[in-house]
Amino acid sequence: MTAVPVTIARRVERPAGAAGDPVSVAGASGPLVDTHGRVHRDMRISLTDRCSLRCTYCMPEQGNEWLARTSILTLDEIERIARVGAAAGITTFRLTGGEPLLRADIVDVVRRLAAIDSPDGPVQIAMTTNGIRLPEFLPDLIDAGLQRLNISIDTIRRDRFHELTRRDRLDDVLEGIAAAQASGLRPLKLNAVAMRGVNDDEIVELTEFAIAHDAQLRFIEQMPLDAGHTWDRTSMVTREEILDALATRWTLVPIPGRGGAPAERWALDGGPHTVGVIASVTAPFCGDCDRLRLTADGQIRNCLFSTTEYDLLPILRAEGSSDAALDEMLRSSVRGKLPGHAINDPSFLQPLRGMNAIGG
Ligand code: 5AD
Ligand code: SF4
Repeated sequence: MTAVPVTIARRVERPAGAAGDPVSVAGASGPLVDTHGRVHRDMRISLTDRCSLRCTYCMPEQGNEWLARTSILTLDEIERIARVGAAAGITTFRLTGGEPLLRADIVDVVRRLAAIDSPDGPVQIAMTTNGIRLPEFLPDLIDAGLQRLNISIDTIRRDRFHELTRRDRLDDVLEGIAAAQASGLRPLKLNAVAMRGVNDDEIVELTEFAIAHDAQLRFIEQMPLDAGHTWDRTSMVTREEILDALATRWTLVPIPGRGGAPAERWALDGGPHTVGVIASVTAPFCGDCDRLRLTADGQIRNCLFSTTEYDLLPILRAEGSSDAALDEMLRSSVRGKLPGHAINDPSFLQPLRGMNAIGG
């Protein structure tokens, strides 16, 4: 089967001399290296576009167009793609959503993926969750092989939480974080999207909350990925502003050795506690990106912001299809990866999918 990318919005023009010439050919083996030399080791798997919250920067209040249930990947299909990915050098699978814990077979997904060996040894399984229902699932998830957790929490004030997520469920999230702390899974990471007039006065408070829960907090610059298309650069809280707010309370010492990680990290008053900033807009880190994304309906995306998707579903559902065809589609997506996102370019076009249908 030939790998045919599907353009779902106007393609962002490639800068002259950028991606285009394949570095790998059909049937090639070895790692997933793109035309800019980036080796892909991390696959984010979105298990569902559904969520128990409705964060304003992610989903509209109403009228979300949900993915068709028939197109949602089955457990077997996810495992098959993950095996092909691992054979091609993927070493970490991060389960995301929507909210991954809404998937009824979530423990089986973790168990099946954790059993996969990559050429470099067993793979790592991580999860990004809103924390709701974590107390119920965590023991089984850990038993199944879950190794790392990121929990999203943008505010610890109840009224704000309700307004921001359009659901009054702060207590459920706090219980999830407490369960994660008690589980001993470390490092435990918390994510907070910084928003002006919403939680930008809580930067110190959220960091103290994270310290008290033995967690590493990472502030995320808000990105233009909301399904409501309401993102506005002028209201975005920047990395600099976040650092200024933190510096009112702590001395920040940069921690070297970031590698391909999205977060820059600082030790607070010399450590051991740390804080991170994910500055996707004002300080993009695309040059070290090692990530591919698989959507819940079987599309490979080589970037959060890509307007092109590579459809695995027809291959998965064709009788007698080969893993080589899936492998070639992964390689095709890697070959087509642009050097970076174009958020700061006037011609930037927001992807049609909201974050809930892409996966963080
Ligand atoms: N900008 C920045 N971060 C976002 N997230 C969801 N939508 C956005 C956005 N528009 C975050 C979630 C979660 C992670 C997966 O991505 O809060 O922590
Ligand atoms: Fe749900 Fe996460 Fe989107 Fe919030 S950001 S609505 S928790 S998927």
